[in-house]
Amino acid sequence: MGFFGRIREDVSSVLERDPAARTWLEVVTCYPGLWAVWFHRISHALWKAKLRLPARMLSQIARFYTGVDIHPGALLGPRLFIDHATGVVIGETAIVGSDVTIYQGVTLGGTGKGHGKRHPTICDRVFIGNNANVLGNITVGENSRVGAGSVVLSDVPPNSTVVGVPAHIVYRNGNRVLITDPHDIKDPLSDALIALSARVDELEHRMGAEPCVEPFAEEEADRSAYREELDRQAGYVSMGEGI
Ligand SMILES: CC(C)(COP(=O)(O)OP(=O)(O)OC[C@H]1O[C@@H](n2cnc3c(N)ncnc32)[C@H](O)[C@@H]1OP(=O)(O)O)[C@@H](O)C(=O)NCCC(=O)NCCS
Repeated sequence: MGFFGRIREDVSSVLERDPAARTWLEVVTCYPGLWAVWFHRISHALWKAKLRLPARMLSQIARFYTGVDIHPGALLGPRLFIDHATGVVIGETAIVGSDVTIYQGVTLGGTGKGHGKRHPTICDRVFIGNNANVLGNITVGENSRVGAGSVVLSDVPPNSTVVGVPAHIVYRNGNRVLITDPHDIKDPLSDALIALSARVDELEHRMGAEPCVEPFAEEEADRSAYREELDRQAGYVSMGEGI
């Protein structure tokens, strides 16, 4: 597909994905995330032609106008949509699949260690919420979603939702994933939680208490009741009005 054919495809995909987008003219003139992708196509061609300095200079001009810093060496798939644009950084060895959506402030970066492939691979149809950081040579699987503000440091399986710092899975293949083993959290408090839960186990054992068959069952029941309550009040609590 030619340069202009791909532009047409980009604009259509924004119209499909962003409910705020109304017309072709609006998308072409008001979406700096798209301009950044278009600039990148030229700077990437220069990069491949070994015109490294002009490629980098063009990517910096693009950054000035769009707020998006994409290294010309990065490989971007078709129909990438960078919504709101500002503050997005995509590193040199990042690979982005097709139909990926990225919000403002996202970094697809290195961890600062090592050379070679040091940036993430983002598979097809991944959604990355605003200000999320995906760091290192890791892979985010197809159809997965990364929550706003998350810091992803290890591979994300396909069809999953991850949130938090560092990120952990909350949904997989449409099913809610509850963390029952503190080892799965991997944040600086994990060790303290693991020591605490071992201590609780030991105390329960000494007291002869029944082991907890379904940990977090009560908490999950509370959450479900709360969600049902919100659903009942749907007329009063809607997106953006809850807080
Ligand atoms: C990650 C996301 C896609 C999940 O949405 P969802 O499938 O509706 O998930 P839920 O709301 O059921 O959340 C599941 C759990 O993850 C938590 N969670 C959701 N998003 C989170 C986030 N960004 N950071 C930390 N925790 C988050 C919820 O609190 C909930 O936990 P709980 O059940 O213990 O209370 C969504 O929350 C998100 O972050 N979207 C990004 C939106 C965005 O970037 N918008 C930019 C507009 S300009």
